[in-house]
Amino acid sequence: MLMSDHTSRQAFGLKILNARHKEIRRLKREGYIAEIHGNKFWNSSFLIMDYLRQHPIPSSKRVLEIGCGWGLLGLFCSKKFSCSVHGIDADENVIPYLDLHAKVNKTKMTAEKKKFEQLSIAYLSQFDVILGADICFWNEMTEALLKLINRAKRGGVSTIMIADPCRSPFTDLAERAKERYKDVSVVEKFLKKPVNATGEILIINT
Ligand SMILES: C[S@@+](CC[C@H](N)C(=O)[O-])C[C@H]1O[C@@H](n2cnc3c(N)ncnc32)[C@H](O)[C@@H]1O
Repeated sequence: MLMSDHTSRQAFGLKILNARHKEIRRLKREGYIAEIHGNKFWNSSFLIMDYLRQHPIPSSKRVLEIGCGWGLLGLFCSKKFSCSVHGIDADENVIPYLDLHAKVNKTKMTAEKKKFEQLSIAYLSQFDVILGADICFWNEMTEALLKLINRAKRGGVSTIMIADPCRSPFTDLAERAKERYKDVSVVEKFLKKPVNATGEILIINT
């Protein structure tokens, strides 16, 4: 069911606030200004949420959302599947927005400031599933994410999913992942609800 007013909407069982919501405005006034496009919730998360509705994650799995921004994808996994979820983002200013959405949705997710490049094999070995949406939009991100996938594989992460509306750095990432790893699929998604959203999910089972 989709419910919305002018300050929030309801989708995939989550309440998602927008820039007009008084709590979002308060955080902005307090100086939490996102610096790397984490200023709102991005639609590619919906592509993974829709996929996961048909392919649920067992509650025992530890999930890491990379480039989490406001964290709605991770919060979806926490709320819907009762997974333990952690988020990382290069921009610490997004974390109060994630905490706010965790509170509004009465679910839990931890988060910290870290860059893709900083996630070591030992760090990644704490997780079973890595998710990321709208995180491959600059050319240099392709290489950073390929290296991250490689470290995740070595750390024993079983599944990595990255969704994007098919910007060229993401398409390059998908092509290079297909060349490098055996169990790789690219799932096309076309959503009409809760919004029109199209794109692909790169899924790597290591
Ligand atoms: C377009 S936003 C998407 C946010 C969120 N995934 C969503 O779907 O709403 C991209 C996010 O990636 C983060 N980011 C950019 N470069 C990063 C890096 N090198 N390491 C970690 N996070 C990064 C940004 O700060 C931003 O929050």
